[in-house]
Amino acid sequence: MTLDSTSRPTAGFTLADPAFWQRDDIDAQFARLRADLPLTWHEEPASDWFPNTGRGFWALVRHDDVCTVSKDQETFTSGEGTEIVDLTPAERHIFGGMLNMNVDEHAKYRAIVARVLTPRTIEAMTEGIDRQAVKAINRVVERGECDFVADIVGDYPAQIIGDLLSVPVEDRPRLIHLTVAALSAYGTAGAYQAYLEIIDYAHSLISQVRESGAEDNFLGKLLAAEVDGERMSDQEIAIFFALLLTAGIETTATTLATGFYALSLYPEQRTYLQENFDEAAPVAVEELIRWVTPVRHFRRTATRDVEMHGQTIKAGEKVTIWYVSADRDENVFADPQGLDLQRWPNPHVGFGGGGPHFCLGAMLARKEAIVFLRRLFQILPDIEVTGAPDFVHSNFVNAVANLPVRFTPTQPVSL
Ligand code: HEM
Repeated sequence: MTLDSTSRPTAGFTLADPAFWQRDDIDAQFARLRADLPLTWHEEPASDWFPNTGRGFWALVRHDDVCTVSKDQETFTSGEGTEIVDLTPAERHIFGGMLNMNVDEHAKYRAIVARVLTPRTIEAMTEGIDRQAVKAINRVVERGECDFVADIVGDYPAQIIGDLLSVPVEDRPRLIHLTVAALSAYGTAGAYQAYLEIIDYAHSLISQVRESGAEDNFLGKLLAAEVDGERMSDQEIAIFFALLLTAGIETTATTLATGFYALSLYPEQRTYLQENFDEAAPVAVEELIRWVTPVRHFRRTATRDVEMHGQTIKAGEKVTIWYVSADRDENVFADPQGLDLQRWPNPHVGFGGGGPHFCLGAMLARKEAIVFLRRLFQILPDIEVTGAPDFVHSNFVNAVANLPVRFTPTQPVSL
């Protein structure tokens, strides 16, 4: 075990280093940490990702620790930020909204949102989601080959969130562009600027909804929703709007693209899914989300001194929880590196380790994935991957940048 100058155990590398995420032994390194070093300290030297040197952070890598921390907001708060980089309170509020709220503030806010984003709302979206899946696939059906990421799944989840938020179709390309900019430049001034532009746009949409008095669409319902006599302000709704776009687009596209790549690595699993789709899909999608783990980590901050694994995490220190490692924990999952579409139970932490911040869009994301794959196998049954993808080397998202595919050309399906 290597110790730093204050006797904290270190991993021999830092998870803040972009070079670590280019390595081809990332899974093996996490397995080593899970076995021998479940709690390590990581320096934050200045890098392309983090232009300023940071104050360092703890990393927890075991499934049970990720779940314990996720569920204990009193001790491990999200209120000081959920990204590794420290933001100012104003930035945290704008650049994350409810994701970065402490336990009391969050409970109030989430109760209002839960009034509007209900299972019934999501169920009512089924037909629209199916239409967007057909549109996404129809665009390429005559070509015989394309890039699965850019040409098929690229804007499928974005169009669904656009439908949910009643964004006029002509405004969507700009909004999608801003969302990509906000995510790809993670932690930089460029990302922050893009985020602000999304919020400005949301304000203009909210004003239109207010003027029209429309209470039947999602934004109108949010404006009207009340819990204990409290409503969300326009600014809070605008911040939530930006969060839905940034949280809901790339994650789902990643599940589908990296997930389809996984199916190409396990052809017998794909055959099983394709041949038994309706029965197999709900369980299979959980395994695809576990295998992909689209969000690799989030951060918490200790609110008091706390003992874990023989170390004292001091009040105010940053604690990162690595979903990407928890989802490969050999104490929880048999053959964790493999893809087993019948794995059940499947207590993966792709949507978080439980607790009050558990992904608000989980139900929608699952539905999007099932509807999409059903249509893909119906319309392009022999679609196959023809080359290895380029991976996005990030400590935050587990995305592929491209994925070449080919299929027998066919006619677009009528809508
Ligand atoms: C497969 C796709 C998705 C994955 C892997 C994913 C993952 C996550 C994770 C890991 C969290 C943090 C949980 C925590 O801190 O405990 C989260 C939170 C959140 N997600 Fe998702 N997400 C996905 C899709 C979506 C979609 C489609 C939406 C929007 C409709 C969405 C909206 C949110 C929101 C609003 C939060 C913050 C919840 C809170 O702080 O209370 N997500 N998601």
